[in-house]
Amino acid sequence: MASNTTSFPPDFLWGVALGAHQTEGNNTTSDWWYRETQAGTPISDPCGDAVDSYHRWPEDLALAADAGFTDYRFGIEWSRIEPAEGRISLAALAHYRRIVDAIHARGLRPLPTLHHFTVPQWFAASGGWGRPDAVERFVRYVDALVPVLHGVERVQTVNEPNILAMMPALAAGADLSAGLPEPDPGLTTVITAAHQAARDRLREQVPGILVGWGISVQDYRSRPGAEHAAAQYREVRDEQFLRVSAEDDWVGVQTYTGFDITASGLPAFTDGPTTQTGWPIAPRALGGAVRRAASVAGVPVIVTENGIAVADDAERIAFTTEALAALTDAVRDGVDVRGYFHWSLLDNWEWGHWEPRFGLVEVDRRTFQRRPKPSLAWLGAQAPGVASTAGTTPAQSV
Ligand code: BGC
Repeated sequence: MASNTTSFPPDFLWGVALGAHQTEGNNTTSDWWYRETQAGTPISDPCGDAVDSYHRWPEDLALAADAGFTDYRFGIEWSRIEPAEGRISLAALAHYRRIVDAIHARGLRPLPTLHHFTVPQWFAASGGWGRPDAVERFVRYVDALVPVLHGVERVQTVNEPNILAMMPALAAGADLSAGLPEPDPGLTTVITAAHQAARDRLREQVPGILVGWGISVQDYRSRPGAEHAAAQYREVRDEQFLRVSAEDDWVGVQTYTGFDITASGLPAFTDGPTTQTGWPIAPRALGGAVRRAASVAGVPVIVTENGIAVADDAERIAFTTEALAALTDAVRDGVDVRGYFHWSLLDNWEWGHWEPRFGLVEVDRRTFQRRPKPSLAWLGAQAPGVASTAGTTPAQSV
């Protein structure tokens, strides 16, 4: 089954996405590792070695490049760069710089994510984002990354600030049948400030770099008569974050599902099929999400995550075909979309669970052997653009 990606603009980013903690393994100085390893932890299925991408990243990159992808989103782990407060690991900086160089050497473009849910345990234990100097501490980490980011075309500061701000409610067992909980206002403020400060610092220190963050944007549609309630639902959960992006170079949209909102402001979940993570299967949600994100943020959109957790890879191909068709329609209608990153290259650790299979590649968790699924070659072959030349000046367009 082919999807028609030919209407995407020239230089459209065609990538796979990976997160640091979910793939690297043994991030022993991070807050999630600490939580996972405490007696009585609620995390029954810990991350541990993950899929050992900290050592096997050359294999991961080769899988993506050989399949035809032109862009590679990967995570940089703050707790590896700064394992103890104020102690920067030169070896960790060199590690991530090698990844950037290898991506460029393969003719791909890197998209590093600087923060993806985890923080160093020293930061968490001393108040985390509630520390009065939290933003300064984050910016100090970002400053340390400048040598890693030199020559990098684009960077994503924070992954899903809106979900991050929901974490306290999610950890307290929020009732998801009422939809996602509301983001904590204090966390929202500080994460936003951290993003903006990091963006300003990166613009000063890495000339030409294009900065954005990646927001969880699902297709929250309104039932007839529920327009006000649906607008409120969207405003709190993603649009307040999308508006922050108006000052950025681009906005990352991370979409997995869609559903209606009723007049009482609740999701109208149907009995339709769901994924391994329990989300309604709604591939065309991607179209609605990018349309709304573009109109609220007013900057170019990059789909920095889209995918499905299913055991059957044929379902992944069917889902992605539909999602790309919806994306194509949006682009034809004039929505400024500049790229698509599939979540995820690998089956990986889904924040407490190993069961959900988001990967284009299966990983044997005992031997770490990578086994490509048919979807890898299929999606790579849809690449619409041509990668920029390795290590040249940063792209002028987003
Ligand atoms: C996150 C990923 C996660 C994915 C699937 C996004 O919320 O950025 O870390 O694995 O969705 O749940």
